[in-house]
Amino acid sequence: MRVIYKKCLGLTLVSGLLLLALFHTWSPWTNSGVDIRQRQASPIKKLLEGKIQDSISGNHDIAYHIKEDVASRLAQNTCVCLADETFQLPFTNLLFPRVWAHNLNLAFLESHPDPEGVRRHRAQEYSSFQRRSYNPADVLIVAEANSPLQYPTQGVEVRALKTIIIPGLGLKGDARSSYLVHLTATLGTFAVAAAVDGVSVKGEGEMHMILSSPLLSALNRQLQFVTYTNTVFHPKTADTVQFATEGHQSFFTIKIGHRTIPNLYNSGYQTEYNISALVTIATKTFLRYDKLKDLIDSIRQYYPTVTIVIADDNEHPQPVTGPHIERYIMPFGKGWFAGRNLAVSQVTTKYVLWVDDDFIFTANTKLEKMVDILEKTTLDLVGGAVREVTGYTSTYRHTISVEEGGEEGDCLHIRNGYHHVIEGFPKCVVADAVINFFMGRTDKVRQVGFNPRLARQAHLEFFIDALGSLHIGSCSDVIVSHASKIVLPWSKTDSQKAYDKFRYSSSVAGGNLHNEIFYFRNRFKCMTSQ
Ligand SMILES: *[C@@H]1O[C@H](CO)[C@@H](O)[C@H](O)[C@H]1NC(C)=O
Repeated sequence: MRVIYKKCLGLTLVSGLLLLALFHTWSPWTNSGVDIRQRQASPIKKLLEGKIQDSISGNHDIAYHIKEDVASRLAQNTCVCLADETFQLPFTNLLFPRVWAHNLNLAFLESHPDPEGVRRHRAQEYSSFQRRSYNPADVLIVAEANSPLQYPTQGVEVRALKTIIIPGLGLKGDARSSYLVHLTATLGTFAVAAAVDGVSVKGEGEMHMILSSPLLSALNRQLQFVTYTNTVFHPKTADTVQFATEGHQSFFTIKIGHRTIPNLYNSGYQTEYNISALVTIATKTFLRYDKLKDLIDSIRQYYPTVTIVIADDNEHPQPVTGPHIERYIMPFGKGWFAGRNLAVSQVTTKYVLWVDDDFIFTANTKLEKMVDILEKTTLDLVGGAVREVTGYTSTYRHTISVEEGGEEGDCLHIRNGYHHVIEGFPKCVVADAVINFFMGRTDKVRQVGFNPRLARQAHLEFFIDALGSLHIGSCSDVIVSHASKIVLPWSKTDSQKAYDKFRYSSSVAGGNLHNEIFYFRNRFKCMTSQ
């Protein structure tokens, strides 16, 4: 009895342990957590930095002469906050607008109760932003002269946690008694998909693998079967692989990540552009129902079935009815960018057209032209022109650039103008910012978004956020009319007066919000503009 009991106990224990072991090896979760903090200080990175120093900074004894005109064009990380100082006659300002400069460090920090604290906080947030957005695939790698190593310099990509064959590995060399190469990675392991006779492989399934052979041809054959398996999950990053032989090292990157999932719109078969199927018109209204009604009536003359999405943050919403109209009521005074965000979030068509609630469609408001350029080019967003009651038409094109300025922050430069004319569309140019009458790819506009803290006057802020992610154009031949803006003060209605009070109230708090956003959120120290 005792013996049987003991045996049973033993069996249970053994099978329990076995199960535990099985569970451990089968378990899809690893017990030890994965460190997903940024790996900026990986050993490979340090190695790379050393190599770059060695290979770039040689030849110290050879003299050179700096060419000021070329050298001065190089970024120096020391932008200064300067306005145009040249003396100008009053009227020349119309033709050649002066550049003004706004020192954000002064404007924002001076009025802040704890300038040192806010400066430090911004620096902390910025360094964590840099760590989050760091991608090993962006690090500079220099290939050594006359390296016997052959390897892919770019274009190697592996899906997260999957395996690939590394293409292009090889070794060239003089006759020797034996040949040896190392491979080292930090986010994955190496193996060989086939074994070649006469080659010794050490470290298969590890982050460091050594291949050696007395025969160069056998080693090169073996190198054709080297695989890389990503073992640390990340949706979008890169591994820097070190590939070395005696006396030589090389580095290349393998991009790691999920593939980008497309976002396609099923707008139906189109022989000619069906605006109702492709475009939604979005606007935001506040205290101007009379203007909004005129806008809707004018749209309906030309586009009777296009959907109109309206964000409305009035205190006492009035009825806005009609077919193909969606109105979203927001808390009172939520503001301009919050309204743009809400309206754009509800769009289901491929394109969204932004209009202000005091615009009027005319026969010149040809949305087909905007769709056409967006369909045929890589533009993500295209602006049109706005005709004032005076007959003056503006396209409000700007270029925006950011110049590095070191620890104090960067300089933002906004200038009138554009980059170049678009081939095939002589009335259209490429710019960085356009007027508040624009059509964009809905998903791209949403990706940039509108900062909802900007409640009153804001427009360029969206384009600053869009820098580097939207390709922006502007066409002067798609024109919307602006319902009277210049109204004599004594003829204003009560609602107009209330609107002006809300929108143009230049309260200290409002001005300082812009300073804060530029100083802290965008980390600028200076803004210059025309
Ligand atoms: C255009 O699109 C709308 C909305 O999807 C649809 O109802 C209409 O039938 C389409 N018109 C044509 C001519 O295809």
